[in-house]
Amino acid sequence: MSDKSKQPTNAPQHWDPKRYQQNAGFVATLGEAVLDWLDPKPGERILDLGCGDGVLTERLVARGAIVVGVDASAEQVAAARARGLDARVMDGARLAFDQPFDAVFSNAALHWMQDPDAVIEGVARALRPAGRFVGEFGGKDNVAAIVNALAAVLARHGIDAAALSPWYFPDESEYRTRLEEQGFVVERIERFARPTPLPGDIGGWLETFAESFLTAVPPRDRPALLADVAAEAAPLLRDAAGGWHADYVRLRFAARRASPHLASPVAR
Ligand code: BEZ
Repeated sequence: MSDKSKQPTNAPQHWDPKRYQQNAGFVATLGEAVLDWLDPKPGERILDLGCGDGVLTERLVARGAIVVGVDASAEQVAAARARGLDARVMDGARLAFDQPFDAVFSNAALHWMQDPDAVIEGVARALRPAGRFVGEFGGKDNVAAIVNALAAVLARHGIDAAALSPWYFPDESEYRTRLEEQGFVVERIERFARPTPLPGDIGGWLETFAESFLTAVPPRDRPALLADVAAEAAPLLRDAAGGWHADYVRLRFAARRASPHLASPVAR
C-alpha cells in the first residue's frame, strides 16, 4: 500500500450540544461585539446563519428582532429549538426562503462553509434590497498554531492534514471581492488576532472542533494523537500557569445588499 492510498477522507464534523457548551461557551460570549455591528432593531426580520445551539440567536430575540436560525447540524438545531427559537436544519450553501429578511447575521460559522460564493449568493437572495449582511468568522491564519501542530503530528502517521481541513479562512481582500461580486457594498471589514483563553485544555478544543483530523487515525490511536498535538502546540499556546489559549484570528464585516440585486453574479 502506498502512503497516498492510506490518506483518509475528510470526515464530517458532528456536534454534541453538551460538549459544545462545555468547551465552546466563549463563542457566544465573544460574539456580542459583532451583534453591536449588526445593531438589530425591534421588529426587524433577521436570519441567523449557522445559529448553533441558539445562544446568540436568543440575544437577537431579546433585542426585539423576529429571528429565524438555520444550521446544518440537526443536534444544534434541536438545542436551539429547546430554547423556544424558530430554528431550522438548512445547508448554508443552499439557503431557501420565500420572504426577505432585513438582515443576515452570522457568528463563527462561515468558516465551516466551503463554498463561500454559494453562501453569499443565498444570503443576497434572502435579503431585501439594502438589507445588511453582518458577520464574523475565522480569517487567514486562524488557529495556525493548532493547524501546524496537527499537520506535524499527522505527518508522522503518513497523513496530509491539509487535505483534511474542513475550514475556509480567507483574508479581508478575498472576502471583500467575493461580496462585491455578488452585488454587496462592503461598509466595514477587519481582520484581527484574538487570542482566546480556553475553558479547558487543547484536547477539549480538538475533540469539539477538529473531528476530521482526529478520525484520520484509528480510535485506539486518538489519545496518543491528542497528547502529541498538545505537546507540539504547548510552547505557543500554553502559559506558565498551565492555561491554554487558541490563536484565533477573526474576520469581521458589515455589508449591504445593493439595490436592485444583480440577477446573475459577475463571472469570476
Ligand atoms: C473559529 O471560530 O475560528 C473556529 C472554531 C472552530 C474551528 C475552527 C475555527
